Amino acid sequence: MDDISRTGARMRVDQPLISGPYVRNHWYVAGWAEELAQDAMLARTIMDIPVVLFRKQDGSIAAIVDRCVHRFAPLSMGKLLPGDRIMCPYHGLEYDATGMCVHNPHGDKRVPSSAKLPSYTVVEKHMALWIWMGDKPADPALIPDFSVLDNPPDIALTKRDQMMMASNYQLMIDNLLDLSHTCYLHDGLLGNADVVESDIQVDQDGDDVVVSRYAPNSIPPGMFAQFWPGHPERIEKQTHIRWMAPSTLKLMTGICENGDKLENGTGYHAIHMLTPETSHTTHYFFTAVRFGLKTNDESFNRDMQEKIAKMRRFAFEEQDAPVVTAQQVRIEGALEELKPVVLPIDVGPVRYKRVLQKLLDAER
Ligand code: FES
Ligand SMILES: [Fe+2]
Repeated sequence: MDDISRTGARMRVDQPLISGPYVRNHWYVAGWAEELAQDAMLARTIMDIPVVLFRKQDGSIAAIVDRCVHRFAPLSMGKLLPGDRIMCPYHGLEYDATGMCVHNPHGDKRVPSSAKLPSYTVVEKHMALWIWMGDKPADPALIPDFSVLDNPPDIALTKRDQMMMASNYQLMIDNLLDLSHTCYLHDGLLGNADVVESDIQVDQDGDDVVVSRYAPNSIPPGMFAQFWPGHPERIEKQTHIRWMAPSTLKLMTGICENGDKLENGTGYHAIHMLTPETSHTTHYFFTAVRFGLKTNDESFNRDMQEKIAKMRRFAFEEQDAPVVTAQQVRIEGALEELKPVVLPIDVGPVRYKRVLQKLLDAER
């Protein structure tokens, strides 16, 4: 188990200098399915391991370590060949989809028996490519449930977007599972002063942690107000966010009449998939699916669809990322041991860290 920080100190997940530890026997999102064309390769570092993915001729996906056994050139800089092979760009060694070197164009053309790269199982599901990098058998039944992404109406689905966050993945989970920050970092856009006081409820469903917030009698925050032309002056804002180990989150958020169910109002399912690239960088994949469209007006709904994608990207890139990145720098730069002061809003993060720690301990 990798629990050694870059400074060499042993870390636990509940300590704030969050470097390293990964739960390996789980599924992580390597990318959106649409990123991987039939004749293309996708290079991605996941949990410090460089991986190249490509589609085999039968459409299934191969993933092998992206580092030639000879002089360590990235295979992703090479060529895909017929027969589900990759040729190294440097001296032409060829590998099959299992990572086995199957062709050496040099000398007696013998392939050394040690010329083999690790390979990983990849499953395409819920519009994403899920990779299993653990040593136990990959179990597709453990892929987190994002069935909200299975055939949603085109008008409701927003862009499948992504960005790189310069922080440990846990700082991003902390950010998402503690939605009280929306009233500050995203004031006016996704939250406002009315929502600061909202009730927080935390539930555990197996290993999932669900945090719900209810803010009745609120002025609707900017984005949600736009969804509902002629909305009541005061509404109930609700958020329900589910963390699914180790690092994906599913949020249902929006506004409804006071005391009503959110399903009867309007809002969106927000998808957040986090994959550690390294201990201090994280792939962030996100999209959204609207629910409760208040009008059939096609151009209005198209406009909303684009606005959600743009506003969410703006919120993550311009509002979350600067703070989370700066947190990472502060934490890494601390000379003393940091012990976070825990507030009532931290009940969700505290709970998921307990589950994550349990999963990490189980892999030791
Ligand atoms: S580095 Fe790949 S063949 Fe030499
Ligand atoms: Fe945020």
